[in-house]
Amino acid sequence: MENTITDSIKITPITTSKLDKVDFDNLSFGKTFTDHMFECDFKDGVWQTPQIKPYGPLTIDPSARVFHYGQAVFEGMKAFKDDKGDVFLFRPKDNFNRINISANRLAIPSFPEQYFMEGLKQLLKIDEKWIKSGAGNSLYIRPFVIATQACVSAAEANEYKFMIICSPAQAYYVGDVSVLIAEKYSRSANGGVGYAKAAGNYAAQFYPTNLAKKEGYQQVIWTDADTHEYMEEAGTMNIFFRINDTLLTAPISDRILDGITRKSLLEIAEKEGIATEVRPIKVNEIVKAAEDGGLKEMFGAGTAAVISPIKAFGYKGNHYEIKRPEKAFASHLKKALMDIQYNLTEDPYGWRV
Ligand code: COI
Repeated sequence: MENTITDSIKITPITTSKLDKVDFDNLSFGKTFTDHMFECDFKDGVWQTPQIKPYGPLTIDPSARVFHYGQAVFEGMKAFKDDKGDVFLFRPKDNFNRINISANRLAIPSFPEQYFMEGLKQLLKIDEKWIKSGAGNSLYIRPFVIATQACVSAAEANEYKFMIICSPAQAYYVGDVSVLIAEKYSRSANGGVGYAKAAGNYAAQFYPTNLAKKEGYQQVIWTDADTHEYMEEAGTMNIFFRINDTLLTAPISDRILDGITRKSLLEIAEKEGIATEVRPIKVNEIVKAAEDGGLKEMFGAGTAAVISPIKAFGYKGNHYEIKRPEKAFASHLKKALMDIQYNLTEDPYGWRV
């Protein structure tokens, strides 16, 4: 019989689990990791035999290209457990496709689908106890690829490491957030890497986000780099606006991440008869709606953040508060999405895996 990828993943289990030491009721996002990790190296033009092994530090040459040129991409996805103890992924094929779209833009070789899906399945199986049931609990899964070739000349590497690490998670943002609309700095430009989950896209936001924090805002809403007149995304989330009874979001482009939560919410909203508009959104339109009361809601959407309501925004030195309506789209859509993720309802879209 032919060997399958399932047979060929080399598994080295841990000897002692860290599970007992974890306080699952008080998790800080992204700080606790499960017992095992998935690792697969690219060498001599091919992805080598994947491994699942105890979670731990790596030894990488200091001249590895990832350290100097940031040749790295990643994904964010989640696994959920229902009350019966069954585990589900949400649209994993979309994450698989997207990591290769990102990889392609960063001149990183594509990762094979079978390795990704089977690696994920085996890893979740071995660390299954780390996934807790109950709304809000999930396992945040972080696949990533780094350029490991030891060489500081500025060109793409010929050696890489693909890994998957997992972290039990609750909320990413606690409570409603306030955001500052970008007037000076930009996250991405036409022809750039904004649509990719490139590591550097995130690092470049830290400094302007720190400036926003000093003004009392937790996040920046990025505007287009040319004019700063159009709303784009929040960096860790895509962004939605509700003006009267219409849900608005910007179209994806080479500057905006094709968010899986974003597109899922649009589909749910459309199915439920909520009017949606996917079109360029002027900052002035939102400011005007905030002034005349038409702006009913603003929220971010992403895998880590799920749906994060925005309670206020700052722009050109002014501060605008948004009073959450009683029947918020954000809560309705969040419930509809989570019911599918936690297997509490039918999944007419075929998203649960
Ligand atoms: C995700 O939602 O998975 C993200 O990529 C955001 C992350 C930077 C925390």
